[in-house]
Amino acid sequence: MTNRDSFSGRFGIIAAAAGSAIGLGNIWRFPYVCGQNGGGAFLLLYIVCIVLMGLPVMLAEFGIGRKAQSNAYRAFKILSPQKPWYLIGVMGIVASFTIMSFYSAVGGWTIEYVVRATTNTLSGNHDEMFDTFIAGSYRPIAYQFVFLAISVGVVVIGVRKGIESSTKVLMPALFLLLIILCVRSLTLPGAREGLIFVLKPEFSKLTGNSILAAMGQAFFSLSIGMGCMITYGSYIKRTEDLNYTANVIVIAGTFVAILASIVIFPAAAALNIEVESGGPGLVFKTLPGMFEQMKGGVFFASLFFILLCIAALTSAISLLEVVVTFCVEELKIHRGWATALVATSMFLLGILCSLSLGIMPHLSLFGVNFFNLMDFISADIFLPLGGFFIAVYMGWALKKRITVKELTSGGTVAFSPLRIFYFLIKYIVPVAILIVFISGFWK
Ligand code: TRP
Repeated sequence: MTNRDSFSGRFGIIAAAAGSAIGLGNIWRFPYVCGQNGGGAFLLLYIVCIVLMGLPVMLAEFGIGRKAQSNAYRAFKILSPQKPWYLIGVMGIVASFTIMSFYSAVGGWTIEYVVRATTNTLSGNHDEMFDTFIAGSYRPIAYQFVFLAISVGVVVIGVRKGIESSTKVLMPALFLLLIILCVRSLTLPGAREGLIFVLKPEFSKLTGNSILAAMGQAFFSLSIGMGCMITYGSYIKRTEDLNYTANVIVIAGTFVAILASIVIFPAAAALNIEVESGGPGLVFKTLPGMFEQMKGGVFFASLFFILLCIAALTSAISLLEVVVTFCVEELKIHRGWATALVATSMFLLGILCSLSLGIMPHLSLFGVNFFNLMDFISADIFLPLGGFFIAVYMGWALKKRITVKELTSGGTVAFSPLRIFYFLIKYIVPVAILIVFISGFWK
C-alpha cells in the first residue's frame, strides 16, 4: 500500500476532485432537470440538499478513503472487517456502470458538437439538428466510443499525470467562459422571463418527484454516494485539510450549475424553446442558437463545447477509476487490461442507452426509455442510497475517534463544525434521504 499514487499537494487534489464533480452533471443535467421540475424552487431545493446532505457525505467519503488508503470496497473491509459494509463499495461499482452508460453517450454528443462548432456547421434549425443526430444515425455510438477511448487513454497513463494536469487549466477557463456566456444570454431580447423562471421559486410547482430529483441531482453533481470520493480521498495527503477541500469543490460545483442555468434559461426564453419538455437535448438545442447571435460565435461555440467535452472527460475518468482501481487491487488484473475490459462493458451498456433515444425507442422498461431509466436509477436511487449507508456508517458504526482524527488531519488542522457535522451525518442525512425516498415513490 505504500506505493499508492498521491496527488501533489493542495491544488492537485482540489483540481482532481473538482474535475470529477464538475462535468455534464452541472452543465447538461442540471438545466434540463431543473427545467422539468419548475425552475427556481428546484434550484433552491438543490442548494438545500447540497448543504445538508452533499457536503457532509463528501467529507465522510474523503475521511473513509484517506483513513483506509484504499478503494471503496476494500476501505470498508479494512475499517470494519467481517461486517457487510463493503457492500456499499459493491453498489458503487454497479452505479459506475449505470452512470457511465448514459454519461458516455452524452460525452459523445459533446464531441459531435465540438466537430460541428469548429467546422462551422452549427447553424440551421437546432431542434431538428439534435433530433436527427440522435435518432437517425450511427454517429452517436461512434462518438460514444471515441469518448470512452479517450477516457481509457487518460486512466491508463495514471492518476497524477492524467487527471491533475488537465483540470488545472480547464476549471478557470470554464468559469470565465460561463461568465461571458451569461452576459450574452442575459442581454438577448426576451431573456428576462428565463431569468425569472430560474431565480423565482414557485413552490406550488414542486412535487414529491421533484424533491427526489433535486436530491439525486445534488448527489450526482458532487460525485458522491458511490465511493468515488472514497477512492479520491485515499489519494489525499495525510496533512491536507479535508473540510477545506470539500468546501471548495462544493462551492465551485454549485456555482457552475447556477451559472449554467443563468446561461440556458434566459437564452431558451429568448429563443422560444420549451424548457419543460426540452429533456436531455436542452443544452444542445438552446446554446447553438445563442452562439449564432454572438460576435465571435464560432469561436465561443468551439471553446464552449471543447471545455464541456473536457469537463465530461475528467468526470468520466473518475467513474472509470473507481472500477479500474477495484479490478487492479482486488482482482489483480493488470491496469491496462482492466481499463480496457471495464470500458468495453460500459460501452456495451451505453450502446443500449444511445439506441433507446434513437432507432430503438421500444428499448424501455416500465414505460421509460433505457437512457432515462439508467439516469434515474443511478442518480435518484443508487447515489442517495449509497449516501444513506455512508452516512449511517460514519455516524453510527465508525469510531468517533477515527473520524475526528481524519477530519482534523491527525490534530494538525481545526475542524470547528464537528458537532454540526455529527448531527447532520447521524440524523439529518439518513432521515432526510428516507423521507425524500418515501415522498418520491409514494403515489
Ligand atoms: N459529478 C459528475 C458530473 O457532474 C459526474 C460524476 C463523476 C459522478 N463521478 C461521479 C456522479 C461519481 C456520481 C458519482 O458530471
